[in-house]
Amino acid sequence: MDTIIVTGGAGYIGSHTIIELLTKTNFNVVSIDNFSNSTVKSYARIKEITNKTFETINIDLCDNDRLKTELSKIKNIIGIIHFAAYKSVPESVANPTLYYYNNLNSLNNLLKFAHDQKIKHFIFSSSCSVYGNADELPVTEKTPLKSAESPYGHTKQIGEDIINYVCKTNSDFNAVILRYFNPVGAHPSGKIGEFPLNRPNNLVPIITQTAVGKNSLTVFGNDFDTRDGSCIRDYIHVSDIADAHVKALNYLIDGENKKNVSLFNLGTGNGVSVIEAITSFEKVSGKKLNYAIGGRREGDVVAIFANNNLAKTELKWAPQFSIDDMMLSAWKWQLNLLEEN
Ligand code: WQD
Repeated sequence: MDTIIVTGGAGYIGSHTIIELLTKTNFNVVSIDNFSNSTVKSYARIKEITNKTFETINIDLCDNDRLKTELSKIKNIIGIIHFAAYKSVPESVANPTLYYYNNLNSLNNLLKFAHDQKIKHFIFSSSCSVYGNADELPVTEKTPLKSAESPYGHTKQIGEDIINYVCKTNSDFNAVILRYFNPVGAHPSGKIGEFPLNRPNNLVPIITQTAVGKNSLTVFGNDFDTRDGSCIRDYIHVSDIADAHVKALNYLIDGENKKNVSLFNLGTGNGVSVIEAITSFEKVSGKKLNYAIGGRREGDVVAIFANNNLAKTELKWAPQFSIDDMMLSAWKWQLNLLEEN
């Protein structure tokens, strides 16, 4: 049976993608995760939701010897979906070398392994952060990249360049680069979702934790040049992101890609401000959120949202969830987490 390697499979987007792979394809799935920003509990949650089993390997992809030793034991690998990376904008600003080391060494080791094992299909988790403060909105895949506003975004720009050069020099290697906008929300079952190990940096888990009294929310600036002064983002449901990965994999395996490296924006195309996201949460949860207005956060871009037409036409993909759906699913997951603890 053809096997797909999912790195970061215990993580937020990785776990939701494994659920889609197990329920919508016949691929054998192997998850690689060292739990540096995830929990092994994710695997049990995936099995509960899908009633399927899959192999898991606990290695650090920066350890090239262990990567080669462990992954060489796996048979019939036809593709790799590479999620494993550190992804916090503020953390990368505070600790840039950690991000350059981890995000780039793991990618290089994996690409070398794919080359040596003649694995033909590779999907790379990139990010809207590569655009920086774009001059035009919505951004298309052809929008010129500004210098990234954070080391996190810079590691994704460099990662894309590496993959472009690998594909340029190896016509047998086919890659899809997926630029996520802001993945939020939780699986509709309410049985799995974002599970930050430490205090989260990103907005939606802070909103839901604030609503249950486990955190406090500060809006980082309301003096931006936007309709309500707060930053604008393109929030997209994590299950829509997961669905796009299955479609991208089939796009490569079925040979529908016109070039051996393809690039797609994964966003809804709707810009939502921080205040609007909070208002949506209050509406669907019935909870009034207390929050403070604070200063701007270093590394933040003012506004960004996607033109997603290319993914719609090429991958036959379309986001299904609204911002209200996203907030309600995040809220359901937060309440389930409360019951668990
Ligand atoms: C969103 C907005 C904050 C927390 C994202 C993903 C990251 C990567 C890059 C995909 C910003 C504001 C936040 C808070 C706030 N995506 N905010 N108070 O920075 O857009 O990064 O894109 O790989 O993984 O997180 O997301 O959720 O941190 O911030 O006001 O306590 O919410 O200023 O405007 P960001 P975020």
